[in-house]
Amino acid sequence: MVDIFEKIQKNRGPLGMHAKDAHGYFTFPKLEGDISNKMVFRGKEKLVWSLNNYLGLANHPEVRKVDAEASADYGLALPMGARMMSGNSNLHEQLENELSQFMQKEDTILLNYGYQGMVSAIDCLVDRHDVIVYDSESHACIIDGLRLHMGKRFVYPHNDMSSLEKQLERATKLVADTTGGILVITEGVFGMSGDQGKLKEIVALKDKFNFRFFVDDAHGFGTMGKTGAGVGEHQGCQDGIDIYFGTFAKSMALIGAFISSDEQIVEYLRYNMRSQIFAKALPMPLVVGALKRLELLRTKPELKENLWKITNALQRGLRDAGFEIGNTDSPVTPVFLNGTIPEATNLILDLRENYDIFCSMVVYPVVPKGVILLRLIPTAVHTIEDVNYTISAFKDIHENLKAGKYNADKIVTQIN
Ligand SMILES: Cc1ncc(COP(=O)(O)O)c(C=O)c1O
Repeated sequence: MVDIFEKIQKNRGPLGMHAKDAHGYFTFPKLEGDISNKMVFRGKEKLVWSLNNYLGLANHPEVRKVDAEASADYGLALPMGARMMSGNSNLHEQLENELSQFMQKEDTILLNYGYQGMVSAIDCLVDRHDVIVYDSESHACIIDGLRLHMGKRFVYPHNDMSSLEKQLERATKLVADTTGGILVITEGVFGMSGDQGKLKEIVALKDKFNFRFFVDDAHGFGTMGKTGAGVGEHQGCQDGIDIYFGTFAKSMALIGAFISSDEQIVEYLRYNMRSQIFAKALPMPLVVGALKRLELLRTKPELKENLWKITNALQRGLRDAGFEIGNTDSPVTPVFLNGTIPEATNLILDLRENYDIFCSMVVYPVVPKGVILLRLIPTAVHTIEDVNYTISAFKDIHENLKAGKYNADKIVTQIN
């Protein structure tokens, strides 16, 4: 027998094992000041490429005004209780109605948090007779939803449509015995690599197989499609998405999320989704704030246009400069380099301390050993100068990396 605390002291977890060295700099960094393209890190201004503030709404003057007024009018406590028991309001319902209209779906349910909502929705939609078929690069909230699933789950390699078909054949045979159904789950935009899920091709498979289709479009909502209604709209297959999930945490620069679907399905979720039945409703200022953001998202297409102007300039510039940015076809911009973890650490130090650029770094085990992924998130508040400066800095650090300047034994800069 072991003592749980002793065990934890020995095994700190894959990220926690680096906590001593990384905390406050590589992990849990503090970005201060107004949310924008430039923010303050450790007392010095940095050009920031790591915030999902796609449309630049976080610090939009109209948003700031409404957030402040709603907090003054309602406080943060209202409503007290879960929607079902004592926490419903006209404004919650108005937001749901406006989202349904925007998403061209019959109805919508608000979720307190996207992550928790996805887990709970998956749990709620299927039982042990059903089979879930899902993309191998699905976000942690999908994977955690699968952990609650009592029936079978079949994975297909990322965006591999012939494997998906094989898994659908397997699933179809299985549910013939269990008398269950099939739920296919994928993402609209994959948050690490930036490539889109092949939603249109998956929808087309409905001609051959009987399944329902659930899309987590956290990164696509607000950024993709003519009106910003996401990857389904962009690929012209919104009607084929049976259950659409979007979060407020990215384009909307807020907290909360939603699921839009058929009226009967949303009613079922309202009365069965444990994360919403047994948790306090979204506070009023968040609901009022979401209404304002949705209005701006709808009425100010220039925000999305700006986002795409910066995205295209950044991705074109990086490609022209010879960088490997994978198959992204969304604003998410990965830059793949080759190097060890100590090299990645030195490179980020150089970028942050000497070039004043703040971006996220992803290393093994999230990406294969020997790969360094620098993840850039362009937003509507970045400028073309920011793009040009960053590409030029990236050329420098790439040369340094290739020349071995970031080897483990070399300290490129001292953190004060
Ligand atoms: C694909 C995906 N789904 C769900 C979530 C969770 O959303 P939230 O931040 O609203 O909990 C995220 C956010 O990181 C995400 O990237």
